Amino acid sequence: MANATTLEGGGWLLCSGDGVPPLALHVARAWVSRLLATRPDALLAFLVLLAVLIAWRYLFTPIEWNRSLGEVGFGHLKEERGGGRSAARERVRLCRRARLLGSLPPAFPNGWFALVDSHELLFGQVKHVSALGENFAVFREEEAAGGRVHVLGAYCPHLGANMAAGGRVRGDCLECPFHGWRFRGADGKCAAVPYSAKVPDFARAQRWSSREVNRVVFVWYHAEGEEPSWEPEAIPEVDGGQWLRKGRSTFHVNCHIQEIPENGADVAHLNVVHEPLLTSGGDLRRSGTSKGIAKHVWEASWAASREEGLEHTATMSLRHELRFLNKFLIMGNDVKAHQIGPGYVVLNIQTFLGRVIILQTVTPVEPMIQKVVHRIYGSKYVIQPFANFMFLGETIMFERDVMVWNHKLYLDKPALVSEDRAINHYRRWYSQFYSENSPRVSMKDRSLEW
Ligand code: FES
Ligand SMILES: [Fe+2]
Repeated sequence: MANATTLEGGGWLLCSGDGVPPLALHVARAWVSRLLATRPDALLAFLVLLAVLIAWRYLFTPIEWNRSLGEVGFGHLKEERGGGRSAARERVRLCRRARLLGSLPPAFPNGWFALVDSHELLFGQVKHVSALGENFAVFREEEAAGGRVHVLGAYCPHLGANMAAGGRVRGDCLECPFHGWRFRGADGKCAAVPYSAKVPDFARAQRWSSREVNRVVFVWYHAEGEEPSWEPEAIPEVDGGQWLRKGRSTFHVNCHIQEIPENGADVAHLNVVHEPLLTSGGDLRRSGTSKGIAKHVWEASWAASREEGLEHTATMSLRHELRFLNKFLIMGNDVKAHQIGPGYVVLNIQTFLGRVIILQTVTPVEPMIQKVVHRIYGSKYVIQPFANFMFLGETIMFERDVMVWNHKLYLDKPALVSEDRAINHYRRWYSQFYSENSPRVSMKDRSLEW
């Protein structure tokens, strides 16, 4: 049987596990040998076509990059001692069990959190999303009913069926798969009971405030059940659809939500974690191999907004340069990262081809598992190969952070020097998103099996 073995550079090599080449490889080899002997010109044409197709695939197709929990940031455990995949998984599992978590902040802050992207929810479709300690039924009305998105509690108030598991959208309602009761998306009220003449007033599905903005569906979470105190604002080019999405990545990260946006205030890590070239990849063990030839140089500052009504926002201003021999500028970008609430960041990047926007959302799937999604948008002048290069760079840099987050201990009293002061400012700013009833991370959450 063929299996996949990782290479030093992070690539994948098909090889035979028991010394016998698989049938497909055998046939391919025979075909290539015959073609080489009889029609070398046809073989050359085939290889050129293949190269063009591969180049097209990687240059002109928007990147879709999905990394599951355990896939990134555990290379040091997976590769160093052999023993096959199951032994590597076991080492990762034991490492996660043994991890100390520290005195964590409450599990889920208050604010808007991304549940799905607009393109993932078609007209008349319902999806089950488990996040923030809740189970949501996210659905889009049928086109004739208007196509608005609603979020209801997944469990039916009649007998508790999960309405997102087999339920159907009927007009602007969600119909439970168990006995066919229908609930309106707008207010959660029961609209019909198929076998009863009377619709009970008391039957109401839990309704969650939601917004579809910038092609993302957000839900409002508040531990005290308060109504939204601010709104995720529309970015006209993205929300209106003038700009195309030029790439998207999804990561599952093993840490508390507060750790991820803290990166923006932790300016000192930039010239350590993100200095080495992208060729060093996302594994921190290999970072630094490019030092001396060229490197990324970062200058950054972080500040919470003092403007009335914008207290839930903060801005990181960043100058990024790629320098050759520490002298010659190869390229430079100015970035403004707006942190909007506890789990949403909008990065504005000024490039020589025009403005690019990256939307980052962080949603707690569990107290110590975060789903992080990045989407890149740009005008038609930001050509796809350039967007792919930028997005790939951003993704590799992010993987380096994931390796830190997956293993770190949260210190509520870190040993900071004065140059780290923005971290304290950030933590004070972030604390506004917790309230009295915010759920705490209990000892049972230390069981981090998956
Ligand atoms: S459980 Fe939903 S209709 Fe009965
Ligand atoms: Fe970082």
